[in-house]
Amino acid sequence: MNINKIIALAVTSLLAVGAGAAPKKKAPKVRKSIASATVGLPVEQRVDSLIKLMTLDEKIGQLVQYTGTGYNPDRAGAIKAGKVGSLLNEIDPETVNKLQYEAVENSRLGIPLVFARDVIHGFKTIFPIPLGQAASWNPDVVREGSRVSADEASSAGIRWTFSPMVDIARDARWGRIAEGYGEDPYLTSVMGVAAVEGYQGDDLTRTNTMAACVKHFAGYGFAEGGRDYNTTWINDGLLYDVVLPPFKAGADAGAATFMCSFNDIDGIPSSGNRRLLRDILRDQWGWDGLMVSDWGSMNQMIPHGFAKDAKDAALLGALAGVDMDMENHLYDNELKALVESGQVTMEDIDAMVRNVLRLKFRLGLFENPYVDLKTANRFYTPANLDAARRAAEESAILLKNNGILPVAADGRKILVTGPMADAQHDQNGTWCFDMEKAHTVTPLTSLREIFGNNVIYEPGLTFSRDTSAEGISRAVAAAEKADVIICFVGEEAVLSGEAHSRADISLPGAQSDMLRQLKATGKPVVTVVMTGRPMTIADEVALTDATLYNFHPGTMGGPAIANLLTGKVNPSGKLPVSMAKMVGQMPLYYARKATGRPHNEANEVLINDIPLEAAQTSTGCDSYYIDAGDRPAFPFGFGLSYTNFSYGSPTLSSDRMTADGSITVTCPVTNTGKREGAEVVQLYVRDLVGSRARPVRELKGFEKATLAPGETRDVTFTLPASALAFYTINNRTEVEPGDFNLWVSPDAASGTPVTFSVTE
Ligand code: BGC
Repeated sequence: MNINKIIALAVTSLLAVGAGAAPKKKAPKVRKSIASATVGLPVEQRVDSLIKLMTLDEKIGQLVQYTGTGYNPDRAGAIKAGKVGSLLNEIDPETVNKLQYEAVENSRLGIPLVFARDVIHGFKTIFPIPLGQAASWNPDVVREGSRVSADEASSAGIRWTFSPMVDIARDARWGRIAEGYGEDPYLTSVMGVAAVEGYQGDDLTRTNTMAACVKHFAGYGFAEGGRDYNTTWINDGLLYDVVLPPFKAGADAGAATFMCSFNDIDGIPSSGNRRLLRDILRDQWGWDGLMVSDWGSMNQMIPHGFAKDAKDAALLGALAGVDMDMENHLYDNELKALVESGQVTMEDIDAMVRNVLRLKFRLGLFENPYVDLKTANRFYTPANLDAARRAAEESAILLKNNGILPVAADGRKILVTGPMADAQHDQNGTWCFDMEKAHTVTPLTSLREIFGNNVIYEPGLTFSRDTSAEGISRAVAAAEKADVIICFVGEEAVLSGEAHSRADISLPGAQSDMLRQLKATGKPVVTVVMTGRPMTIADEVALTDATLYNFHPGTMGGPAIANLLTGKVNPSGKLPVSMAKMVGQMPLYYARKATGRPHNEANEVLINDIPLEAAQTSTGCDSYYIDAGDRPAFPFGFGLSYTNFSYGSPTLSSDRMTADGSITVTCPVTNTGKREGAEVVQLYVRDLVGSRARPVRELKGFEKATLAPGETRDVTFTLPASALAFYTINNRTEVEPGDFNLWVSPDAASGTPVTFSVTE
């Protein structure tokens, strides 16, 4: 089909529909275009046939993504002229259809737009923040949450989400720790893949799916000191062993898009990092998706001190491998001149455009560019709300329980207090652009439903940073009338997330003081935390009788927490991050190196026990803080239940395997308590001697097993030797023969190891 034909077809359809008049209530019909002429052909062929027809301006247009400004003459004109490839942040389906109409019916080639949005942990029905979803240690929770997100957001016209974030985060000061799956590359890989599967489904052309975007490529979570956007120090061992595996897993799972990160590694900002974007991602991993810049990240190579000016930044981005320009205004302004001067070749441009068109074909946008307005805005269905509640239930971590929990509705008076008890906005956490407060159910509402008039509500503090002494006095006075105090503390949504790093990660405001004063009443105090990060709350946990820790739980946080507190649901979440005693322990993670002087805890002397004028070496010369010791307050993988579990000794199918072999590991786990419960059984290894020193433990598997009271179950893992590969002294990822320790344990700090070896 030649271009005249296409134009003729366009004219015919324009006459049929009426120029520029996108039908309001009904999705317009899709005209016959070059794309429909190629229906049924493989995507690559469709891309090729389309690209042959495109002018340079049209090609550049496909590489440009702008933020939404609604439907207006300027935007409509740019779309008609083929100058826009994608829009983010348009969320009204009728507007989406009107804009799409300009692209499909009124641009020369009729290439549809792809509409994008940050749908990070739900669109309208909000699920727990990703860190909370990781605490479920159940990939089904992530998959289902992502599927629901895709269904809701696509019903508003969004077919591309900027999620999942798979940045490993080992510094809780970094506000964006909330958005990822924690400190561990294995857990993050499993959860990242589940998110990709949930968003994309098994057929991305279905109109209720979204393209996933694995971000931020790469190393963003290692921002120095947890300060957002900061430089990183990432050597190749850390890069290949820790930073990249979740991205590789996402690429292998078929993630349609990636986003590059803001940070530099070794002085090279990701938007200009050819090694990452091309050599590793495309050449080594064979990924063929679309790489979008982060918002303005190419431009930011100028303040980084890496690009001289806008033209230079565009050149660096294009050559490094950024296909789409998100709000940099570089490709639209600079790319044409760079092609004309020969600095960027037409082959470079075609490769970039191919990646964009491939996405649009994969999404089926040429066939189904419009939102079906008859089924638009599918939000808050009972099934979606149920899924969000279950996710919040599975994500809660019981840190302590002296027996006060669960609290039965047995006539006791319950004081519900604290700034997070009825925080419809804040319990949803960061990245909730589309959340509607009115749909959020708080713990106060849910507890009132269960305990009725036995609930006494006195917030004390009205927001997490509140320091009101009078407020605390009111809560303390109310406690006199109560049998049990449930105090909801934490962080407001705005205290975590992008650009919200904190140097102090304790409870803000006067919340700790409030807990102390409540405890001084002599009444039992249950602390419920809702937060965006692992906080330094060891003292508060020690002080109070029970602590239920929730990363911001979302729309259904209230019913979920009420079900957990009252025992309808048994807590089963485990920490996806280590929790520090003091912020100075950051960065903190279990998979650390041993050092040449590992800490001998048996001889630990802490600051208040050091005698006056003690000798310099009297505390031992090993690696620990004299004030914080060497351990976290709560280790990675930790979480309690209303029942108890005991672990037998793991048995191995063999105590040796070859570098291409595998072993099975079986461990009996028993529910020794009186009620059913789910336990996250974790498999760790340590490579005892390596050509580079290896971490003291690394997670290699986990299974969440639900056990009846008294039940013993053999939990079995397959451990392939390939899972033991690391970036060796030969500067490649490979398995080294040698001896290993192996644990099957309830967290990263317990268990007794057995040994095995990998032979030549
Ligand atoms: C964030 C990305 C996000 C983008 C678009 C940036 O500031 O770093 O994660 O997807 O904005 O909103």
